[in-house]
Amino acid sequence: MTDALLPPDGIAQLREALAGAGYTSTGIAERIGPAGTAGMRHNDLRAALRATAGAPDPLATLIRLFVCGQTEPERVVATALAPLPLSDAVRAGIVERSGDGLRAGLEIEAYGEQWIVSDVDAGLRPGQPLPPEHVLGVGGASTTLAQSTIRRPVATALDLGTGCGIQALHLSTHAARVTATDLSERALRFAATTAALSGLDWELLRGDLTTPVAGRRFDLVVSNPPFVVGPGTTTHTYRDSGRAGDAVCAELVAAAPRLLNEGGYMQFLANWLHVAGEDWDDRVAGWVAGTGLDAWVIQREVSDPVGYVNLWLADASEDPTTQPARAAAWLDWFDANKVEGVGLGLVTLRASGHDDPTVRVEDLRQAVEQPLGAQVGPWFHRQDWLRGQSTDSLLGARLVAADGLQLRQEASRGPEGWQVDRQLLALTEGLRWVEQIDPLVLALVSACDGNVALRDQLDVLAAAHEADPAALAQAAVPLVAHLVERGILLPAGG
Ligand SMILES: C[S@@+](CC[C@H](N)C(=O)[O-])C[C@H]1O[C@@H](n2cnc3c(N)ncnc32)[C@H](O)[C@@H]1O
Repeated sequence: MTDALLPPDGIAQLREALAGAGYTSTGIAERIGPAGTAGMRHNDLRAALRATAGAPDPLATLIRLFVCGQTEPERVVATALAPLPLSDAVRAGIVERSGDGLRAGLEIEAYGEQWIVSDVDAGLRPGQPLPPEHVLGVGGASTTLAQSTIRRPVATALDLGTGCGIQALHLSTHAARVTATDLSERALRFAATTAALSGLDWELLRGDLTTPVAGRRFDLVVSNPPFVVGPGTTTHTYRDSGRAGDAVCAELVAAAPRLLNEGGYMQFLANWLHVAGEDWDDRVAGWVAGTGLDAWVIQREVSDPVGYVNLWLADASEDPTTQPARAAAWLDWFDANKVEGVGLGLVTLRASGHDDPTVRVEDLRQAVEQPLGAQVGPWFHRQDWLRGQSTDSLLGARLVAADGLQLRQEASRGPEGWQVDRQLLALTEGLRWVEQIDPLVLALVSACDGNVALRDQLDVLAAAHEADPAALAQAAVPLVAHLVERGILLPAGG
C-alpha cells in the first residue's frame, strides 16, 4: 500500500488549512475575479497577482504559492498552512526553500471543493526541463477522458496510470470500490495524497499496465495512458510507454477481455499511426478483431508528424530547436515507418458477450456537446436496440426525430432563382452529426413523430413518388439503421 506524502493527522491539518482559507475553485475565482480567472486560462497571472498583492491573508498566500508559483516570506507561508507545521510541510515537499522565502514544492490544485496533488506545472518553472518522473497535474487530456467517461453506478472501477489521481477522483463519485495503478511510485504517492485529502480510500498498486491487476475483472476501466507514439524510447514516464509506435494502445485493447466483467466498459485515450498505404480505421479495427468486444472508436484529431513531435517535445519543456537530434530521431522513425500522421481519439470497449460484436471506428472531429460520456452509453444502447431488430420489426417500429434536429440547405442562384444544391440534417445537440440527405429521406425524417410505423410511412412515400414499396423499404432499412445509430432518429418511447 502506498502512503500519502503526509501521515493522517498531517493530511487533516493540510485539509483544514486549505478549506479554512477557502482555497477551492469557487473561493479562488471569487478572490481573483473574472479577469484573474480568464488570465489564468492563458497562463497570464498578472490579474491574479494584482488581486492577491499586499494582503497576505491565507487564501491570497495559497493562491500566490500554488497557482502563481511565487516565492513568499516564511512567516506568511507558515500562517497560510497552519495548523500544518511548516517543518512538516517542507519535509513532505509541499513547499521548498527558494532564496529567502518559500515556494511550492508541488502543485495543490483546487478541483471543485477537493484538491489534486501533482508536480509543479512546467509553466511555473520556465526554462527547466521536466524531470523523467514528473507527475502531471490536470491537463487537457485528463479533462477529455473525465468528460468522456460513462458515469453510471458500478461496483468496481480501475484507473490505469492514475498519476495525480484525477480519474480515480471522478470514479469515486459512482464506483463503490476504486483501484488505481501506476508504474511510478512517485505518482502513486501523489494519488494517495489526493485520495487522503478527500477522505477517499483507493487500492493503489504499482506495476506495468495491467500486470498489477492480473486475473481481476472490473465493471469500468479508464485510462489516460502514456499514449505518445514514437520510436519506443522512454524519457518521461507520463508520456512514453517504452513501446514502439502505437503498440501500447493495441496492448490495452488486447488486455480488455481479461479485465472486464460481463457488461463492463473500458475507455481510454489513444493515439494511432496513419501509415502510408493503410487505412487508419482498418489498423485500429484490427486491434479489436477477435477480442469479442463491442467497440466504438472515435478519432477526434489528426496531427502531422512535425507538429506532433514539436507538441510533445514542448510538452516536456524540450525545445526542438535546441535539441534538434531528439526531434530528428523521432521524425526519422516516423519516416522509416511511413507514418504520415497521428490520430488522437477515444476507445470505448464493452464486454457484451455477443458472437458478432459491433465494431465501429470513425472520424468524429466536430465539436460535440460535453460531457461526451453522456453520449457514449446511449450510443451502445442504440446499437443494442438495432441488434434486436429484424428487418420486419424495424419496419414496424415507430421512430421520432431527435430534439434539436435542423435542416440546412445550400443553394445557388441561377436564372430561375435559388436552386438547392445540398440538404443536410444537423444535430445541434449531442454528437452534432451532419448528414447529407436527399428529399425522400428528408420527407421520411420529417414525418417521424413517433405515431406511425416506418412501414406505413414508406408506403405513403412510395405512393407519392410512384416507387415500388418493397424496393423502397429494402433501400430504407440500412439508411434508417444508420440514422438511428447516429441518434438522428430514435425509437419512440426511448
Ligand atoms: C498521461 S499520464 C495520465 C495521468 C492521469 N491519469 C490523468 O488522466 O491525467 C499517464 C500516467 O501513466 C503512468 N504510466 C506510464 N507508463 C506506465 C506503465 N507502463 N504502466 C502503468 N502506468 C504507466 C504515468 O506514470 C502517468 O501517471
